[in-house]
Amino acid sequence: MSKLTHNKRFIPSFLVIVILIGIGTIFIKNKSTTLEITKEKDITRKIKSMTLEEKVGQMLQAERSQITPQEIQKYNIGSILSGGGSSPNSNTADGWVDMYNEMQQAALNSSSGIPIIYGIDAVHGHNNVKNATIFPHNIGLGAANNPELMYQIGAITGKEIAATGLNWDFSPAVSLAQDIRWGRTYESLSENPRRVEGLIGNYIKGLQEQNIAATAKHYIGDGHTTFGTGDNDYLIDRGDVQITEEELREIHLPSYKEAVSNNVKTIMVSYNSVNKLKMHENKYLITDVLKEELGFEGVVVSDWEGINEINAPTLEEKVALAINSGIDVLMQPYNWAEIYNIIINSVNESKISEERIDDAVYRILKLKYDLDLFDNPMAKSQSDVLGNEEHREIARKAVRESLVLLKNEENILPLSKDQKVLLVGPGSNNLGFQCGGWTMEWQGVEKNSLTYGTTIREAFKSVLGENLYTNFSKAEEADVIVVVIAEKPYAEGFGDNEDLTLNSSTVYKNNINTLEKVNELGKPVVTILLAGRPLLIDDYIEDWDAFVMGWLPGTEGNGVSDVLFGDYNFKGTLPMTWPKTIDQADDSMIMENYDGANYQFEYDFGLVY
Ligand code: GLC
Repeated sequence: MSKLTHNKRFIPSFLVIVILIGIGTIFIKNKSTTLEITKEKDITRKIKSMTLEEKVGQMLQAERSQITPQEIQKYNIGSILSGGGSSPNSNTADGWVDMYNEMQQAALNSSSGIPIIYGIDAVHGHNNVKNATIFPHNIGLGAANNPELMYQIGAITGKEIAATGLNWDFSPAVSLAQDIRWGRTYESLSENPRRVEGLIGNYIKGLQEQNIAATAKHYIGDGHTTFGTGDNDYLIDRGDVQITEEELREIHLPSYKEAVSNNVKTIMVSYNSVNKLKMHENKYLITDVLKEELGFEGVVVSDWEGINEINAPTLEEKVALAINSGIDVLMQPYNWAEIYNIIINSVNESKISEERIDDAVYRILKLKYDLDLFDNPMAKSQSDVLGNEEHREIARKAVRESLVLLKNEENILPLSKDQKVLLVGPGSNNLGFQCGGWTMEWQGVEKNSLTYGTTIREAFKSVLGENLYTNFSKAEEADVIVVVIAEKPYAEGFGDNEDLTLNSSTVYKNNINTLEKVNELGKPVVTILLAGRPLLIDDYIEDWDAFVMGWLPGTEGNGVSDVLFGDYNFKGTLPMTWPKTIDQADDSMIMENYDGANYQFEYDFGLVY
């Protein structure tokens, strides 16, 4: 047998083995890239089988209007969000679910086969969706201060989110507003960390029991920025927190400890800086403190283009700083494709380690595993769940408990049901003012038809019938006048307001005209204020026989009539110090600049019948 023959015989079997191994490897590779995740330990195996491109895709969150299903599939995108007011053409449960399922199917067809997770700001109910139950904004819930109610609100919000197919809620804000000139004061439950801690755990539990991921936000110190340091031309929003680390830990960390101890699945990084270092590049506070010291094992998500505001000359450097600081999901609604390429290049240039990428992807896949997304990726519509009677009854109860009685001369309240009442003012018949910002539109909407609900006027009408007057021409016949004054809807920095008077930038202009007209009538006056924070009322309150703070009550205006006509007593107390002058706007008992002597009303004040 010639050497050649021998070799020839030797070569074919060797080749056969190589070919078999090759096929096997391809098979295993292909097999593992569509490896099913049925057990937690499959996550690690899955990550080992994924390409860098597939991993990086999982770290990106694009806005629904800025990406196609084809791109979701091509880039293995891990997450989609709706910005404030961003809804499908058909703003119904069916419309949302159809949109979600189309995106989900594309994700399942991607090379990694990993389902998407879809986030939205349902911050006082599922507020992007028409006919959803809209609860009082957080500041009113802080006034109610009822942990059990917070659990119910979290659970109902979760059910209504699930009814539209989504699975991630960028809520609750655990902000501790220290300066009420801040436009996001109404998203804060209280200035006092003890009050906030007692409420957020139950909300997170209620929401996550519906298989919806909660988000404690914005980490850390968002409510404590210094006036005048705001970013993006804002006065205070996204500004600089100028306190010691000890104060930061004592005031703002407990809420996150409470959230983590209640297994919050995600935490959103704040736009603000702490002593001039942007939170989005704060490795110490995100990785060393939140992930290691507090043991947070969930997903850290950046805020909307928050990475862009990092102090570095190039986007490449900003992205590397953000990811190396511990951010796992990048909320980059528009330039997600550019960021995708930047991350891949940065890993290949060793500016971001593969270990950091693997850690982020593990957290992301674990989140999806915990939400059963691998087993049940597709959604089904439950339109009967949205805004149903049972949910609205809980929201009505929340309105009742959020109201704070601050003045009641000669017990003019409760009103009697056979009195003749003149009800006037910009807030008396406007769902838009009742709901405030983050309702159907990012900045809210100043009109009635934005969604379905009950205005204060409709609620009073159902109690008084013909004895309700809504026109000044009937003033003579009225026994009492109820005037509802209101702030305009606003969100974030657009609500920053430097003087907080009743004719300032965020307050509806004709409040004062209405108050002046009411004063000329010489009748008993009950004033209700719908606003996202205390306003300066010292020049007016003398003319009011009774005064009720209504905050931003949402769709169930009948909660107001329930209490004003005495079917229920007042329960709410002030979650914020109420300043008498603008220089007291940033006073709070927390910073010990609280002398308690000459405020309009003190923290935790509230009267009852
Ligand atoms: C916003 C807010 C944040 C919200 C996010 C997504 O700018 O700061 O609270 O969750 O973007 O809408």
